[in-house]
Amino acid sequence: MTVSLADIDLSDVAFWERPMAEREAAFALLRAQPAPLRFAEPEVGFALPGPGYYALVRHADVVEASRNPEIFSSGRGATAIHDLGPEFGEYFGSMINMDDPRHARLRRIVSRAFTPRMIGHFEDGVREEAARIVDRLIAAGPGGDFVTEVAARLPLKVICDMMGIGAEHHRTVFDASNVILAGEDPEFIQEIDRSGETLLSAGRRLQDLVVSLVAKGGDNLITSLTKANIDGEKLTMRELGSFFILLVVAGNETTRNAISHGLQLFTENPDQRALLLADLDGRLPGAVEEIIRLASPVAWMRRTLTRDHEMNGHLYRKGDKVLLYYWAANRDEAVFTDPYRFDIRRPAGDHVGFGGPGPHFCLGAHLARREITVMFRELFTRIPHIRSAGEPDRLRSSFINGIKHMSCEF
Ligand code: HEM
Repeated sequence: MTVSLADIDLSDVAFWERPMAEREAAFALLRAQPAPLRFAEPEVGFALPGPGYYALVRHADVVEASRNPEIFSSGRGATAIHDLGPEFGEYFGSMINMDDPRHARLRRIVSRAFTPRMIGHFEDGVREEAARIVDRLIAAGPGGDFVTEVAARLPLKVICDMMGIGAEHHRTVFDASNVILAGEDPEFIQEIDRSGETLLSAGRRLQDLVVSLVAKGGDNLITSLTKANIDGEKLTMRELGSFFILLVVAGNETTRNAISHGLQLFTENPDQRALLLADLDGRLPGAVEEIIRLASPVAWMRRTLTRDHEMNGHLYRKGDKVLLYYWAANRDEAVFTDPYRFDIRRPAGDHVGFGGPGPHFCLGAHLARREITVMFRELFTRIPHIRSAGEPDRLRSSFINGIKHMSCEF
């Protein structure tokens, strides 16, 4: 597959619709350049285009930028290329769009809820739900949509249970998180909506939900976050609302996509399925990391330079924007042997699917790993030959490497 630099415009949504082999060839070419390339910003109706951004596509660059948040700031926005203003960023992104000391303060308050021990409390519920999902799948028979009937269900139920959200609100959460992470996909966002109103109203629906949850109380994460008081620090209602939006959005679609990509990878690589089935418990942890590496459900996050800085031979200027392409770093031939190969026995290594090492490393990584492990254990124990069928219907987005629909057979 040959691609030329002139064919690559990472800001053109059409680039992200090209076949995966072309995407791989394009990023391999970008990694081979002596210096990172700069791209013009995409046109978005409700934001002014800025000065452009550098694409960081090598593992070494992504890691170094993640490790140095005082130089590579998240505060001007990590999840959008445009500067949307601190208020908008905080509203939708909470601490993911903040720097220390505010980031550290919020992270201290909420991180107690995400330790392996706390996640362990939900383990039984996760297992029971995975079993129910597979029961329903078997009863419905082959031919259904694996994404909506399997992959989407577990993360949605887990995050809703953690926060005390009843089944009557699951649809609201599902729809709102789809809209917030819709990218350019017309299935979730009307192309004529250039005002951002669809996005804002999805945010409002989630904020309204958190207000009703606080009023209801109960033994859940929302209640413990309203009470959390670390050295006199408490979350304000506004902070809680934004953190809630971040959690339901970050916790849903990412894990859903990892599970869907996982089924596709095992379908395309029967040798790896056979290896896994020969020692399910022993090899599942490695398989989950390998799925995250190759799927890289979050394709990039942004940083902005706080001062002039030289990194790996290139001089960046204060104010420059950089996009950390995790998807590309996870295929860097300088770090991964035979990087395009799905190899569940690959030595546990340095993939950056949950972000690079640094203060913003995914808060939900442990939870996501548990969910993906439990889902594949249940699927491969009961229907070990389940496969994806036909081409997956991919999300039209540069930010989320998503699968919207994918049929399955067994
Ligand atoms: C396979 C699933 C997941 C993937 C691939 C993923 C990916 C990521 C990435 C790449 C970041 C780094 C952001 C940065 O450096 O700017 C991140 C941050 C974050 N993730 Fe995840 N995530 C996943 C699941 C989850 C889940 C299940 C939750 C919660 C329930 C979650 C909550 C968060 C939060 C709160 C942050 C922000 C952390 C901070 O700014 O300190 N994620 N995630």
